Amino acid sequence: MVATHTFTAIAHLLLLFSFCPLGAPYRQAIKPASATNSKTFRCSEVERKALLSLKESLLDPSGRLSSWVGEDCCKWIGVGCENRTQHVVKLDLKNPLPVAKFDFQYERREALNKSSLGGRISPSLLDLKNLSYLDLSLNNFGGNNIPEFLGSLQSLSYLNLSFSFFAGVIPPHLGNLSRLQYLDLDSYHLPRPKYIEYPHQAHDYSFVFSQGLKAKNLKWLAGFPSLKYLNLGHANLVKVPNWLEALNTLPSLEELHLSECGQVSLPNSISSFNFTKLSVLDLSLNNFNSSIPHWLSNMSGLSILNLANNSLRGAIPKALADLHSLQELDLSSNSFIEGPIPGGLGNLIHLRKLDLSSNHINGTIPSSFANLCNLQTFDLKMNDISGEINELVDGFSRCSNSVLESLALSGNRYLGGKLPCSIGALQKLQIIDLSNCSLQGSIPDSIGSLSFLQRLHLSANRMSGPIFKSIGNLSMLLEISLGGNSWEGVLTGADFQNLTRLKFLYLSRPSENSTLVLDVKPDWVPPFMLEYLILRHIRIGPSFPAWVQAQNELVDLSLVDAGISGRLPENIGELFPKLEIWL
Ligand SMILES: *[C@@H]1O[C@H](CO)[C@@H](O)[C@H](O)[C@H]1NC(C)=O
Ligand SMILES: *[C@@H]1O[C@H](CO)[C@@H](O)[C@H](O)[C@H]1NC(C)=O
Ligand SMILES: *[C@@H]1O[C@H](CO)[C@@H](O)[C@H](O)[C@H]1NC(C)=O
Ligand SMILES: *[C@@H]1O[C@H](CO)[C@@H](O)[C@H](O)[C@H]1NC(C)=O
Ligand SMILES: *[C@@H]1O[C@H](CO)[C@@H](O)[C@H](O)[C@H]1NC(C)=O
Ligand SMILES: *[C@@H]1O[C@H](CO)[C@@H](O)[C@H](O)[C@H]1NC(C)=O
Ligand SMILES: *[C@@H]1O[C@H](CO)[C@@H](O)[C@H](O)[C@H]1NC(C)=O
Ligand SMILES: *[C@@H]1O[C@H](CO)[C@@H](O)[C@H](O)[C@H]1NC(C)=O
Ligand SMILES: *[C@@H]1O[C@H](CO)[C@@H](O)[C@H](O)[C@H]1NC(C)=O
Ligand SMILES: *[C@@H]1O[C@H](CO)[C@@H](O)[C@H](O)[C@H]1NC(C)=O
Ligand SMILES: *[C@@H]1O[C@H](CO)[C@@H](O)[C@H](O)[C@H]1NC(C)=O
Ligand SMILES: *[C@@H]1O[C@H](CO)[C@@H](O)[C@H](O)[C@H]1NC(C)=O
Repeated sequence: MVATHTFTAIAHLLLLFSFCPLGAPYRQAIKPASATNSKTFRCSEVERKALLSLKESLLDPSGRLSSWVGEDCCKWIGVGCENRTQHVVKLDLKNPLPVAKFDFQYERREALNKSSLGGRISPSLLDLKNLSYLDLSLNNFGGNNIPEFLGSLQSLSYLNLSFSFFAGVIPPHLGNLSRLQYLDLDSYHLPRPKYIEYPHQAHDYSFVFSQGLKAKNLKWLAGFPSLKYLNLGHANLVKVPNWLEALNTLPSLEELHLSECGQVSLPNSISSFNFTKLSVLDLSLNNFNSSIPHWLSNMSGLSILNLANNSLRGAIPKALADLHSLQELDLSSNSFIEGPIPGGLGNLIHLRKLDLSSNHINGTIPSSFANLCNLQTFDLKMNDISGEINELVDGFSRCSNSVLESLALSGNRYLGGKLPCSIGALQKLQIIDLSNCSLQGSIPDSIGSLSFLQRLHLSANRMSGPIFKSIGNLSMLLEISLGGNSWEGVLTGADFQNLTRLKFLYLSRPSENSTLVLDVKPDWVPPFMLEYLILRHIRIGPSFPAWVQAQNELVDLSLVDAGISGRLPENIGELFPKLEIWL
């Protein structure tokens, strides 16, 4: 939604100047235009020189600006000119390496660094009087400040400096850009170290903020009467007084992203309310330690509300059910949100994603949720939900064309009931995550018709019966986690023959009650290459089976009490070069 929304908005902006979309097609589309016009019109000498000075001041180790030679600067890669006047109106110098937002693995960032522009941004840019679009995202300005003179680019309506290693105080001079509609200064740039990834733990902002942007106040935002999109994610805003009031001065705002800004208070009241056009609000990862404020429910146009990973407390306000346009609601990982789910949320029929995971929500799931026929993601794992799973699944199965992809309720230990046959009606399901509940009964045969199913997690319940009768032909399965139940029957190699994509197999037997037997021939050649194999208390010995030895991709292998005797193979390190955990 965010992406589409932004794209439409930008596409609209581009249309104003008769541009084509970004990237390669954009470049090609400019060529014919300038070719026909090149005799009569081409870029002005002043603007050409300004661009050459910019090129000179920038570091460009991968030669991205090597096309910046010759007379007609409108032909240069990344430069866009207005058709008629041939004034430079657009500079798209974002790193061309494709990257998903926040998908910065170390290797990815390293590759990005290699193809980055860096160095200094020459004030010669100010000679581009008609520049309305400037994108320098995903480059590497090595911790330099954002130049103050950018605030004098009076025609700018789009400024994107995200993920580019700018640091220091955001210059209030940007507030002079009175035509600005899009301002993206997201300063996320570091692969998150593991220790930050545990929810329920106070955030270590010192790491996140060690090199990023910061602001002491946001008064300068008052200079943006037309601002539609603002992203100050990962900037240190801890010291900003009245931050909410400062944002409340933006009458045109449609998207606000303030993820991980170190905010510690979410005001409970707001004096006047001007967020009437807001459609996307992302305040995730801010350590808010308050109740969910009621004024949120006055944002009647909201389609995405993300308050995940804070320390919000108390009950979910009933008034949230007034957000009739809501498509995504994410209150996950707050750990202090408690009490029941307001039945009114079942009226939010546009919801596509509902994530309330990792809280202390209790009570049963309202029967009104059967109305949520647009839900793709339903995530309530790690809560204290009670009641019976069959009622919920029966409810969802009454949607005429279910689009539900993920049903996640694991870690609700009071949730009982049996998986009903009606689960077969949830034809789009990819994820069934119901481990660590109190489910009983067997796996219904109808599960065999869920041809998109990738993850089947039912471990640590009280289920019984045979397991592969119906799942043996779910050829998309990546993960089977069924350990800790009282399964019965005999599994043979043939039962696995269609599971070619399987990466994760957890079948450990819990209790005296299970009679599950894995009976595979010594010369069995499995169709899969596993990364995780956990078979505690399941006999596969007495020798270390050849089929396990052939699983060279294993990261985690556990064969406790598997009846294997004798010595381990000498070359175990060679057999499993990726092994990290071995029990
Ligand atoms: C700009 O150029 C393109 C391609 O030649 C043309 O289709 C479009 O009509 C022109 N726009 C204006 C406003 O002249
Ligand atoms: C990328 O460049 C930044 C800034 O110079 C540096 O801090 C970071 O370590 C580099 N990352 C990688 C993976 O090379
Ligand atoms: C381009 O900039 C000049 C100088 O600021 C201004 O006079 C002119 O109106 C601008 N043209 C457009 C199309 O905005
Ligand atoms: C800014 O650039 C980043 C990276 O190229 C992109 O993901 C983001 O959507 C851009 N922001 C806006 C408002 O277009
Ligand atoms: C731009 O803003 C800064 C700080 O807000 C201010 O000091 C400066 O005078 C402004 N410049 C112009 C040209 O308006
Ligand atoms: C919240 O934190 C968890 C665990 O660190 C992470 O997986 C999840 O993506 C975060 N959610 C948001 C919306 O930031
Ligand atoms: C916000 O709204 C109130 C009343 O609704 C109005 O008086 C005030 O001027 C608005 N503030 C701004 C900065 O638009
Ligand atoms: C929010 O809406 C309620 C009900 O319509 C109204 O009473 C309240 O004053 C509004 N709050 C703000 C801050 O505008
Ligand atoms: C959060 O707020 C509660 C109640 O106001 C307070 O007892 C607690 O110390 C606060 N926790 C943090 C980490 O600020
Ligand atoms: C749900 O949690 C609330 C708050 O912790 C508690 O007061 C209430 O008794 C609980 N209800 C049930 C049914 O467990
Ligand atoms: C594997 O798929 C084939 C073709 O769909 C099917 O006939 C067979 O029964 C499946 N095997 C198992 C073990 O389910
Ligand atoms: C094993 O079966 C007995 C008798 O049916 C039952 O009481 C017990 O809870 C079962 N144990 C487990 C771990 O399921």
